[in-house]
Amino acid sequence: MQESIDAVRGWIEASTRIVVLTGAGVSTESGIPDFRGPHGVWTKNPLAEKLSNIHHYLSDPEVRKLSWQHRLDHPTWHAKPNAGHIALVELERRGKLHALITQNIDGLHQRAGNAPERVIEVHGTLHEVVCMSCGWRGPMQATLERVRAGEADPPCTICSGILKSATISFGQALVPEVIDRAMQAAEAADLLLAVGSSLQVYPVANVVPAAKAAGARIVIVNAEPTPFDDMADAVLAGRTGDVLPRLCAKRGHR
Ligand code: APR
Ligand code: ZN
Repeated sequence: MQESIDAVRGWIEASTRIVVLTGAGVSTESGIPDFRGPHGVWTKNPLAEKLSNIHHYLSDPEVRKLSWQHRLDHPTWHAKPNAGHIALVELERRGKLHALITQNIDGLHQRAGNAPERVIEVHGTLHEVVCMSCGWRGPMQATLERVRAGEADPPCTICSGILKSATISFGQALVPEVIDRAMQAAEAADLLLAVGSSLQVYPVANVVPAAKAAGARIVIVNAEPTPFDDMADAVLAGRTGDVLPRLCAKRGHR
């Protein structure tokens, strides 16, 4: 693999508009399980994927109560950015990062030091709560305090509507301007680095062919094969925490 690491380092050196697309695999080394990997949430409990559908959440108070219990001790609250996140900050510091599109809801890219305005959270964020009726948004921790104080399914304080984490669940549409921004970034890329994603969820997976069609080099870093491997210019099968620091460090470092 070393020769491809050196080749990709050369491409990164020559690039000025790198777009990174991250998935849950970039956060597993921070203690947040992914979904479809060998120990993924959906892998271990296919029913959980069904229950994560917005229609179940809106129609069944029992599903909501269970969701609030899971949010109380979500691994995100104890997670810290790992070497993979930090390596991607280095790309930004080197003036090479055009945009960081993330499917993750953990906010670890921003905590690692990537500028929030450069991070495109296509599946939303766990750090905020939204009212499904009036659109009110507030900090997740304040609503978790209400759950800890005994409200099993806290309603919106403004309109008594259903509250949910500000994440995009299955069955829910992505925010149009957010996915448009991600696709525009992909079309402007000279190098797309797809990291820690099984690239199975749409419309975000379209970022890869969009970047390819726009002439970008495609590099995939993932522990397992993805459906886009044969479209890639390089596929680095390894742990993001090992591979990314070797790819993103300035020449002469590492
Ligand atoms: N290093 C490299 N790859 C890893 C690591 C790691 N440390 N840990 C896990 N992986 C790989 C897994 O092998 C898997 O192929 O990361 C990939 C994660 O894929 P998924 O679990 O499918 O996560 P993701 O691609 O982000 O899923 C997209 O699906 O469930 C929805 O909304 C959810 O945003 C999520 C979306
Ligand atoms: Zn409301």
